[in-house]
Amino acid sequence: MTRKIIIDTDPGQDDAVAILLALASPELEVLGITAVAGNVPLSLTQKNARIVCELAGKTDVPVFAGCDRPLARNLVTAEHVHGKTGLDGIDLPDPTMPLQDAHGVDFIIETLRREPTGSVTICPLGPLTNIATAFQRAPEIIDRVQEIALMGGAYFEVGNITPAAEFNIYVDPEAADIVFKSGVPITVLPLDVTHKALVTKPRNNAFRALGRIGEVVASWTDFFERFDKEKYGSAGAPLHDPTVIAYLLKPDLFSGRHINVEIETKSDLTRGMTVADWWHVTDRTANATFMGDINADGFFALLTERIALL
Ligand code: BDR
Ligand code: CA
Repeated sequence: MTRKIIIDTDPGQDDAVAILLALASPELEVLGITAVAGNVPLSLTQKNARIVCELAGKTDVPVFAGCDRPLARNLVTAEHVHGKTGLDGIDLPDPTMPLQDAHGVDFIIETLRREPTGSVTICPLGPLTNIATAFQRAPEIIDRVQEIALMGGAYFEVGNITPAAEFNIYVDPEAADIVFKSGVPITVLPLDVTHKALVTKPRNNAFRALGRIGEVVASWTDFFERFDKEKYGSAGAPLHDPTVIAYLLKPDLFSGRHINVEIETKSDLTRGMTVADWWHVTDRTANATFMGDINADGFFALLTERIALL
């Protein structure tokens, strides 16, 4: 049986690779893609999502535009990492497939109302604005979500946009707070995992050898690599968002702990910090499975094998 998912995303090159992995995987049925403002403004993330669907030849996947700004804050973007378009790398044609008329939040609400309870997984790859807005507007859908598997947060690695916070959670901490308090089973793929999923030269060469789509993927990772390598001095850039999809396909590639995770919304200094009780030093109730490790070779083998199918 296939697993039904909604991808909520702010592409972003690593979001784009995550979308390709999902679209290439027969175990997953992508019910729709909802764009959110994050790495770049919404006008670009919704367009980029359609560019990626067209690249994969999957123009039947509906793409929706969701929220264009965080719940309570000004939008912070990350062109310094992803470039002006969010998808800098090889130039790709503008999409011809249409953007759906419905708002992304309405699509999330209607899909969860329509599909059987516990049959839809949400995969947020950007700020959690769309998901939190859907939960606020239609609280009855919360119990209908099978699982939320998201990229965001950090514990040992702490922050990438500030010393204390990871980008997706930092951009809309109020939304993250709503989602983490929702009671939905949550699996978190934080920086602790993604900073072990480095696109080394041999791994990128393996993408490049796959033909047209592999070349595009390699050009994306080459682009954001320049930023990450300089910043971390590492052997390659972390490939964040595809870990979410890989977790759905092969959960055994990952290990972590079921713990309490709270979101810092008050302090300016630590805004968006994921306060993860990794060592169980409080009696706060566990609300998330927080991954800490990844079999990186297995992850890149899966990615390469699936991108080759497109
Ligand atoms: C996250 O932030 C974005 O820049 C990436 O797309 C990823 O979702 C990593 O912190
Ligand atoms: Ca993202």
